[in-house]
Amino acid sequence: MSNLHFSLVILTVCLISQSSGKAGVHIISGVPDHPSPLQARCQSKDDDIGTHTLLNGEEFSWRFRPNIIPTTLYFCHFYWGAKDRSFAVYDARISRLCKQDDYWNCDYYWVATPTGFNVSADNKVTWKTLNYWN
Ligand SMILES: *[C@@H]1O[C@H](CO)[C@@H](O)[C@H](O)[C@H]1NC(C)=O
Repeated sequence: MSNLHFSLVILTVCLISQSSGKAGVHIISGVPDHPSPLQARCQSKDDDIGTHTLLNGEEFSWRFRPNIIPTTLYFCHFYWGAKDRSFAVYDARISRLCKQDDYWNCDYYWVATPTGFNVSADNKVTWKTLNYWN
């Protein structure tokens, strides 16, 4: 095999193993700042987003390239007062909420509320309650 052919094979393998788009996860505080503001520690197996403290209405987000093989998983551990809860904010199940044509560029909005967690995958038009505080 020539070097050129070898390079083309490598390039093709890279292209099919990675999607072209970038998905986004947004974490928004919908809880009062008392007894304490929302804290979220988010990470995947090899990507630590770190701990963020969010006042009511504040948001942070990150973007990533989902694997074609749906193994990408980000989870967050949320803390609010004496309550805490940890769950996947992006995985194969969450990605199926995306309704837009541009599947790989979907944005997932998570709002922590006093009762639980709402997610929207259509730019905040419809919300679904998916998790509750412990
Ligand atoms: C969360 O979503 C539910 C629908 O599952 C909705 O009834 C509720 O108003 C939402 N809460 C907030 C704070 O967005």
